[in-house]
Amino acid sequence: VPVLHEIRSLVTGRHPEGPGRLECIPDAAVAWEGETLRWVGPAGDLPTEWRDAPRWSAGGGVVIPGLVDCHTHLAFGGWRADEFEARILGKSYLEIAAAGGGILSTVAKTRAATTAALLARCRHHLAAMARLGVTTIEAKSGYGLSLEHELRLLELYQAIAADTRQHIVPTLLAAHLVPPEFREDREGYVRLVIDRIIPEAARRGLARFCDVFVEERAFGLPEARRILEAGRSAGLQPKLHADQLSAGGGAELAADVGACSADHLECISETGIHRMRAAGVVAVSLPFASLYLGVVPLPARRLLDAGVPVAVATDFNPGSAPSYHLPMAMTLACTLQRMTPAEVLHGATTVAARAVGLEDRIGTLEAGKSADFAVLDAESVEHWLYHLRDNACTLTVARGEAIWRATP
Ligand code: NIG
Ligand code: FE
Repeated sequence: VPVLHEIRSLVTGRHPEGPGRLECIPDAAVAWEGETLRWVGPAGDLPTEWRDAPRWSAGGGVVIPGLVDCHTHLAFGGWRADEFEARILGKSYLEIAAAGGGILSTVAKTRAATTAALLARCRHHLAAMARLGVTTIEAKSGYGLSLEHELRLLELYQAIAADTRQHIVPTLLAAHLVPPEFREDREGYVRLVIDRIIPEAARRGLARFCDVFVEERAFGLPEARRILEAGRSAGLQPKLHADQLSAGGGAELAADVGACSADHLECISETGIHRMRAAGVVAVSLPFASLYLGVVPLPARRLLDAGVPVAVATDFNPGSAPSYHLPMAMTLACTLQRMTPAEVLHGATTVAARAVGLEDRIGTLEAGKSADFAVLDAESVEHWLYHLRDNACTLTVARGEAIWRATP
């Protein structure tokens, strides 16, 4: 039963007065037992039963809930640095995709990679995320695009989840793009997703969410609705990649099908904003994707002011967002999306927990929740996000165990 003390300030992540206000406990202490938080409060009030418990020092740093990266495409083969350059020289994301690059080139590299190689890469990325304070990672399939390869990616996430302290939330994204084998028969692929891939993934408990890339070159609204409804009846909650490159009614569909989150939303319509608020859908902002594709980010201020909860995630993938640095995405959410540091902190903890349906277990520091937290060498959350460094995180604890400790 360790106790963490010498905490300058602890941010609980709770925000009863709205996401713009941080709830802070100065000179705090935290006690946990196994995977579970037992007590959080001012150090002077630590109950006597923990007075003699082993002490871990936070070194006078700030403690925040473990960061939740609620949107990643974690498992993929190869990289696409060639496209990074092509885009700089003026080619658009859609032109690159039309010329055989983009998502489908990663599909080919992913299918060709051995499971052992994909596993090793994922573990490497997860260890790097642990050093940044990230304790929960949503991970999508979507670079397999066949029954065999989509399930292989989800099985890989299951294997990783079994041997890491980080929480892994698996999402089936078989509807990322129509694979080349079905180029002349997109309905055949939609049927494969609905009749085989979704039922199999659900039956084997391999996914929690079903996601669809709703976009002109990917899946249309009627197809997306059928896929998300099939997922929901199989027990997979809906999520969408919506309104990223064009305003396609994705946010409205998310509200219609009761999605847990709608992600991207750079081109969301005014109606979409109001429908999402009414339906309680979380908006997931992905500042790296907006930055790398050179598009105007989602209107975070309008969403927040309308009462839509806004999460912040990396979208880590080899094309539009080749970075897993969530703290950097958070700083970008402040500067590009005009979210305040408090809104961004909640966006990568409490609100992100909601976007992955785990708000009862993670996202805030309260007795009864998972012992997931990060210690920052910073004087405040505001100062942390403002003074961008390679890494300010000195200790990461996930489910009660240290998964990263900086050498002093
Ligand atoms: O979230 N938008 C679709 N999917 C990814 C991009 C994937 C890729 O380019 O490989 C995204 O941005
Ligand atoms: Fe994505």
